[in-house]
Amino acid sequence: MNFLTIESTCDETAAAVVTDKLEVLSAVVASQEQLHEKFNGVVPEIAARAHVERILPVIDETLARAGLSLQEIDAIAVANQPGLSGSLLIGLTAAKSLAFAAGKPLIAVNHLHAHIYACQIAAKKNVFPCLGYIISGGHTNLFRCENAITFEHLGGTIDDAAGEAFDKVATMLGFPYPGGPFVSKAAENGNPKAYRFPRTFLNNPERLQFSFSGLKTAVLYQLLGSGNSDLSKIDITEQERADVAASFEQAAVDCLVGKAVHALKKTGLNRVCVGGGVAANRRLRSELENRCDQEGVELHIAPMELCTDNAVMGAIAVERYKAGLFEDFDLDIVAGLMR
Ligand code: KG4
Ligand code: ZN
Repeated sequence: MNFLTIESTCDETAAAVVTDKLEVLSAVVASQEQLHEKFNGVVPEIAARAHVERILPVIDETLARAGLSLQEIDAIAVANQPGLSGSLLIGLTAAKSLAFAAGKPLIAVNHLHAHIYACQIAAKKNVFPCLGYIISGGHTNLFRCENAITFEHLGGTIDDAAGEAFDKVATMLGFPYPGGPFVSKAAENGNPKAYRFPRTFLNNPERLQFSFSGLKTAVLYQLLGSGNSDLSKIDITEQERADVAASFEQAAVDCLVGKAVHALKKTGLNRVCVGGGVAANRRLRSELENRCDQEGVELHIAPMELCTDNAVMGAIAVERYKAGLFEDFDLDIVAGLMR
């Protein structure tokens, strides 16, 4: 069986054709990074307009690369939550229209669950039950995942997502957007103990939540120093820049790894599946690997092409198809972030 999966939750317009055996027949991602770069963040209205222009060409290209016509597709899946409302609406409208026109079943995908399912696609084996962990530019969430259908939200960020914090700190340090990888690169030459930045909620194992805004502000005040209110006028050496990057990264990674350990202890789970762009961070990967080794926990981190937003992870729809979970054409978007 062939599934057409559509993803437009944020600033990537993506589609894929995957089979019920989780083989990827084609996958296309049209990134909008260049459109948002000059604003140092995703502008929702620009994202929605770009999705409108790209969604049908991306779907056409995906079908062409798979060598299939729409009639040869057995079901159409779309990420309808969570995300930016304008962006979500474009993908959902395209999916509904195609499903209606071609008489195909419609399946709803939760974008966060799909990020976790990326680990199952990569591992080519069952990864459930597991602790699901999404660490991206838009989300930082922990889930208890019984199976590929049943996800219990354990907690998330109460302000910025981890990637957002990396990107904002990158802007403060003068790096281009999205700056997470630049902060990470600069941190390689820095001392992670040079500055002591806050690790919010880390000492409270009961609280499976994150907050990165205080950390971000602490970095800002460290950079501004006393009596300065303009970041463009700060004068720091390359070493100081590297030290700030490393100290920030260490604080963020301590929180991210610490909360995974808290969640594992609280749930009794012994497997973690991590998705989202920040999972590319080297310090995070190596510290997660070490802690999981120590705790005897199996760790899966989705490979890079499945970590950032893509439609292949929408293959979670295969599980919903098998469970008979189909949607009517009144399916709506659910935009809100999970806290
Ligand atoms: O999953 P993703 O595509 O985000 C959403 O669309 O939500 O991931 C992008 C995020 C950006 O915030 C980016 O700066 C961050 O992941 N990122 C990193 C690294 N590589 C990407 N953050 C820290 N270290 C990295 N190596
Ligand atoms: Zn995402």
